[in-house]
Amino acid sequence: MSETLEHQGPATLSADLLVTGGRTARPGGPTAVRVPGDKSVSHRALLAALLPGALDAAGRLTVRNANLGGAVRALLPALHALGLRVDADGDALLVRPDAPVPQPVHPHPALTGGPGGVPYLWTAGSSAAARLLVGVLAGTGTAAVVDGDEVLRHRPMDWLVEPLIEMGARIDYLGDPGRLPVLVHGPVHRPGTVRLTVGSAQARSAVLLAAAAARLPMTIRHPVSSRDHTERMLAAFGAGITESPGELRYDGGACTVPAELDVPADPSLAAYPVAAHLLWGDGGELSVPGVCLNPTRLGFFDVLRRAGADIGYRDRTVTGGGEPVGTVVARGGLDAVTAVRVERPAELHALIDEVPLLAVVAARLPGTSWIGCAEELRFKETDRLETTARMARAFGARIEVESDGLRITGGAPLRAASVPGFEDHRVAMAAATLATSLPGRTTVLGGACHRTSFPDFADVQRAIGARMAEDI
Ligand code: S3P
Repeated sequence: MSETLEHQGPATLSADLLVTGGRTARPGGPTAVRVPGDKSVSHRALLAALLPGALDAAGRLTVRNANLGGAVRALLPALHALGLRVDADGDALLVRPDAPVPQPVHPHPALTGGPGGVPYLWTAGSSAAARLLVGVLAGTGTAAVVDGDEVLRHRPMDWLVEPLIEMGARIDYLGDPGRLPVLVHGPVHRPGTVRLTVGSAQARSAVLLAAAAARLPMTIRHPVSSRDHTERMLAAFGAGITESPGELRYDGGACTVPAELDVPADPSLAAYPVAAHLLWGDGGELSVPGVCLNPTRLGFFDVLRRAGADIGYRDRTVTGGGEPVGTVVARGGLDAVTAVRVERPAELHALIDEVPLLAVVAARLPGTSWIGCAEELRFKETDRLETTARMARAFGARIEVESDGLRITGGAPLRAASVPGFEDHRVAMAAATLATSLPGRTTVLGGACHRTSFPDFADVQRAIGARMAEDI
């Protein structure tokens, strides 16, 4: 079972996604659709198994409703190399100790004659897997090489490696400075204060996980509030964490990882059916239950609500992991919705993965929309400011890229087209979602890369009336 879960396969180009505009049937009444578990919470829940004292008396951690997209699967070979196997058990993942399974070292000049004898942890293209893993290893003092594919090797690691080094960790760049692969070979041990230079939640989480694993009292200064799943999870485990604007304090106290963790549905994935429903605008109510309603994740819905969209939240409750959960409800369409403006860094971070989707929705709104404070988008799987603009222009949208954001002038006639997906799941899913509302047939080149975060994206969109299939 774990073999199937861990299978990464070679890095190949994804199949195209074919979308025919229009809805198969106008919704007579309310429609409900479910989306997979949250990617960020899934990464953190699985990594909790590496924290000191994790795994119950029977030696198990059960993670329910985990996201099983490529980005979360990317963590599994690394866990196995560290002596933890992960098996599917119904809709849950079971994490248990097992003999460490060595990972093949990828041929890379930086590793020739490099460190021998330490586990080689391959995280494919997942920045969250790589960055959070580096943090946990630096906290537990586990020596290992962390590496990833060519795309990931171009993404910044210094955002977290430099503060971890300040905290006393020994981490060496084995390739280009500031990038993967890195060798982690000494634990953090200096309590005190570190200052982060970016709003990246992955960077802050890596530092916090290192401190918590090492029980090192730390103050972490950071420029922007972004998703706080690590803080909530560790606090729910009993760690002493206090937050004030721009600052996070961990008191060095112990935390206890429970035997079971629940992952709420992913708000970033709920955004796609909600957007399709609003783009059709043909009536009815769409609800997505069990969604993580953590305010640091709701920017897409909140910005559209502020612009006049009928989106609401109901059935609110809180999970054991400290995450608010509820149903997202969308009614009507975009008729009364005005241009959107994102002008505060925290708001941008609350929709950081939805920028391509918000941009294509904005192309259907009157007036000029602005999505700003988005310079970190240049360091995603692609330079997402550029790839979003190129994808949207292929539909006929008027969109300008500025150094820190996107300016979208609504009202340009949009048409079905052959559009690039850039092997970037968020860009491809945004394109396919816009295409559901345009007459004619759109091909999203490489669109099946949605599997990175949303394996059943096309099924979910079809369930609410989209006509969407992979080109086989
Ligand atoms: C994530 C944080 C964000 C987000 C990514 C997941 C996380 O990245 O874009 O999809 O799990 O913490 P950054 O921290 O780089 O902004």
